Amino acid sequence: MATRCLRYGSLAFLVAQDTALVLLMRYSRSHATGEMYLASTAVCCMEVLKLCVCVGMLYAGEARGSISGLVNVFRREFLEKPSEVLRLAVPSFLYLLQNNLLYFALSNLRATPYKVTYNLKILTSALFSVTMLGQKLSKRKWLSLIALFVGVTVVQSDNHKSDSDAPHPETGLGYQTLGFLAVVAAAFTSGFCGVYQQKILQAGKTNMWVRNAQMGLTSVCLGVVSTIVKDRQAIQERGFFQGYTRLVWTVIIIQAVGGLNVAFILKYADNILKGFAAAFSTVASCVLEMAIMHFRPTATFLLGGALINVAAYCYNTPGRKDGNKLPR
Ligand code: C5P
Repeated sequence: MATRCLRYGSLAFLVAQDTALVLLMRYSRSHATGEMYLASTAVCCMEVLKLCVCVGMLYAGEARGSISGLVNVFRREFLEKPSEVLRLAVPSFLYLLQNNLLYFALSNLRATPYKVTYNLKILTSALFSVTMLGQKLSKRKWLSLIALFVGVTVVQSDNHKSDSDAPHPETGLGYQTLGFLAVVAAAFTSGFCGVYQQKILQAGKTNMWVRNAQMGLTSVCLGVVSTIVKDRQAIQERGFFQGYTRLVWTVIIIQAVGGLNVAFILKYADNILKGFAAAFSTVASCVLEMAIMHFRPTATFLLGGALINVAAYCYNTPGRKDGNKLPR
């Protein structure tokens, strides 16, 4: 009974967190009344927040509430394991890129087309699981992945038809097309990082908070560098926290909590739950965006979205030949 409650409770939490994040992030990027905040600084703050939580958990757990214990953990897990920290710099860098891409995407796409397209990460995760982990997929899963791809293509072609897409001055591509490409790129980094971590986690027994603190430290350093490279001038002129409102801080906190939740799921690996949560939260985002933000999907869009959700459902439901070891 307790396991059941935990399972459904965590499913509800995942759905609520994912839905709230995408709607609030979109709102913060499209309805700013004053100055627009810099996405690079928001990602940086989110990484700092996650690192603080990880260090706090290490202080309370491994270090047993002592500063010298924490210093020892730092020495043991960071200074004496440079190769491990370096290996984790790969997902740290890619997640940083992914989080920036997601801000860019939600600056140019509505929440629902974004969510629907981001389901592509099921496909990319499967492809990386096959190539990097040598996993075999059943016919049912391959068919689900093809249906998923078709669904995304339908949604995307509808997106092109239904909205005016102003061209970006440098690339000549429409802003929505660029937003779409950013989500596709993010789906690739998400798929790769998930599988990469699965590979690392399967190989070792490092504490989840240590692992995330190792990643977090690199992410914060890379985040600061990327902020300087991308937005130095704007920061010098108007400050690091320009445009920050309570809404922006809420987005940052929800994203940090969501990130740690993903880390938890990757460690305790209930991929089925994660896949269902993504599909549920796509539907929830669509309904809420229609109700609150005047989103009016076309019939083609709904058809493509439904196909994607059915594909995600079929992919994540174990068939007779799949057993329990599902790729992420
Ligand atoms: O599932 P998806 O790839 O979309 O989610 C990735 C998110 O989870 C990113 O924001 C990433 O920063 C975060 N994450 C994390 N720690 C991990 C794995 C993912 O903070 N160990």
